[in-house]
Amino acid sequence: MQTILLVFKVLFYSMHFYNNKRIYKLIRKYHTMKIVVISDIHGNLEALNRVLEYIENMEDENRIVCLGDIIGYGPDPAECFKIVESLTDKICLGNHEYAIPEEDFDYQMTMCAREAIRWTRGILGEENSEAISRLPIQIEEDNVLYVHASPDDPMQWKYITNARNAYSSLIEMKHSLCFVGHSHIPGIYAYNELQGDSNKVTLSRDDKTIVNVGSIGQPRDGSPMLSFAVFDDDNWSVEIIRLEYDYQETMAKIEKANLPLFLAERLARGA
Ligand SMILES: [Fe+2]
Repeated sequence: MQTILLVFKVLFYSMHFYNNKRIYKLIRKYHTMKIVVISDIHGNLEALNRVLEYIENMEDENRIVCLGDIIGYGPDPAECFKIVESLTDKICLGNHEYAIPEEDFDYQMTMCAREAIRWTRGILGEENSEAISRLPIQIEEDNVLYVHASPDDPMQWKYITNARNAYSSLIEMKHSLCFVGHSHIPGIYAYNELQGDSNKVTLSRDDKTIVNVGSIGQPRDGSPMLSFAVFDDDNWSVEIIRLEYDYQETMAKIEKANLPLFLAERLARGA
């Protein structure tokens, strides 16, 4: 009799534990899902791999949204595009992807960008080029907008680099929150005042905020450290993450591919 009771007890507690685990997993899945927002990888495989390593060590459940410019400038555009495509179907069109089928657009780019985009066209492959032609200009999720350049007229490829040029976009913005990249300069710009320090802030759903996540593959704010954002859509907070990576390896690859040397040098300067 005692043995039967013991078996029942073990079964009862096992089921209880199993259900708790399931409930815990469900809560984590639906309430602490972090959104990792990445942008402007620019064919920099070393920087992308460093971000993937970071994501793998994240404690929370997470998913990825990419704001475009996976290609252009860097030496591994095809590899980077394939990796990002395998991680997420939430990928926005960047101006460098836009330039792939639009050869006339080359003349709106700087000389180095033009040279790199012509080289990229040659090695990207048909499958990647087709996938690029299907990318949306923006992705909307409830009250959050993801777009490469700016929420107002995204195809104008406007640069958001400071509070002043963010302001003209904020007044036109229809969503509470918008994530952008494009300028390669990270920053958080709210219509009203922000709470918290500049790298980790709690936002207000009643305010309007633009978060520039910076660039993974070609930072331009004076630091060579790559940049991206982690968004907690439960407590509506955003953190800009900066990481070091082996940019010297990328520089060597740029040189080997005979891409403009300026594109290699700027990685070390973060400019
Ligand atoms: Fe870019």
